[in-house]
Amino acid sequence: MNFNDTEIVSSIMKDSGWEVTQNVDEADAILLNTCSVRENAETRIFNRLKHFENKFKKRKDKSIVGVIGCMAERLHEHLLNLQHTVSVVIGPDEYRKLPQMLEQASSGNKGVAVKLSKVETYDDIAPLRTEGVSAWLSIMRGCNNFCAYCVVPYTRGRERSRPLLSIVQEVKGLHEKGFKEITLLGQNVNSYKDEGSKATFDALISEVAEISKSLRVRFTTSHPRDMSDRLIEAVAKYDNICKHIHLPVQSGSNRILKKMNRRYTIEHYLGIIEKIKSSIPNIALTTDIIAGYPDETIEDHQATLDLIKEVQYAGAFMFKYSPREGTKAFAEEDNVTEEVKIERLNEIIQLQNSIAKELNSLDKGSTLEVLVEQPSKRNPNEWMGRTSTNKITVFPNEHKKYSAGDYVNVKIKRTTSATLYGEVVEQ
Ligand code: 5AD
Ligand code: SF4
Repeated sequence: MNFNDTEIVSSIMKDSGWEVTQNVDEADAILLNTCSVRENAETRIFNRLKHFENKFKKRKDKSIVGVIGCMAERLHEHLLNLQHTVSVVIGPDEYRKLPQMLEQASSGNKGVAVKLSKVETYDDIAPLRTEGVSAWLSIMRGCNNFCAYCVVPYTRGRERSRPLLSIVQEVKGLHEKGFKEITLLGQNVNSYKDEGSKATFDALISEVAEISKSLRVRFTTSHPRDMSDRLIEAVAKYDNICKHIHLPVQSGSNRILKKMNRRYTIEHYLGIIEKIKSSIPNIALTTDIIAGYPDETIEDHQATLDLIKEVQYAGAFMFKYSPREGTKAFAEEDNVTEEVKIERLNEIIQLQNSIAKELNSLDKGSTLEVLVEQPSKRNPNEWMGRTSTNKITVFPNEHKKYSAGDYVNVKIKRTTSATLYGEVVEQ
């Protein structure tokens, strides 16, 4: 989502005469787009600010530094008063003010804009995307769920959706420009609603899928409480809607889910998983897990491990609980020690990796359609792409026979917990 926000910001800046540079040393302004979801994301930004501070000590011509995004929303006073390098602080709903505020900053006036909006979706702004195969596209902003641990509803405000027609137009434009894969983004895409036609997410994704059979469609994130049968049917129906669903569970314990205000039980969650698996064979499921939530007992932790074993996720984002000021959970004692959090997290990671390894090994011998992305990092003669199930696949591409954006069929020869390796089979 921040990736797409950066493209929106770049577009706003370009329209008022700025240009993007990849070289920090020649930048008149440096904007850090930030995340507040866990403490370590914020720590990294503070380290980066320190780095700029040191860099500028040696230089006369300082760049203007702006902090934008969730951290700007959450820590605006601190950032402006205590971080001397920072002169512009802008929250997620105020990006239109950036050019004006940078102008003011260049004449020495620091500025903050952090008002949250009920309507801003930047719908009329065409994100400045770099050429590529895959594009991110925000269909909505904000979140109304208020999970007890999560800062997003406070930093990104209330949920609001973009009109369906304008999303479909944007995707058509991207398809014409040569993009091959679109990821529809929202904190909770299942509660997408077009205010005009009252169309819901299943209708939107179906229209997007109809644009072209050669355009892959992905989406993230779904909330288990709002996962509709109609969405599952749409994923099953369209070959070009990728066979991957990210369904964050957070914990395997009903007691912890209740404390987290997730508003579903494990029984409900497993019911959805069952429906998905029976309607969409070969679906890859992924999830988010938080280890060491306040009051989490060894039994709660065991329930999470049991759930992971039962669902058999293809992948997971796994985190230690990180207390966030202002959230409901922050009022609770962060009473699982750091040592225990790390121990539980490691156990979860180990289990998940062994499951991913096992599941990937089942792909050995099969031929999978892969959308070619780029040369692999390890060997320029080998290229990487992804399967519909979002598995990274590496294959030889001598003499650059295949290019980014091609679809190739890869016969899988070898697998690890993270990657499939194979060779292209011509058909
Ligand atoms: N601590 C740890 N993980 C968190 N997440 C959100 N808030 C926190 C927190 N305070 C995780 C959740 C969510 C993902 C985007 O980040 O798992 O699904
Ligand atoms: Fe945060 Fe919950 Fe909203 Fe996801 S659904 S952004 S975890 S409040």
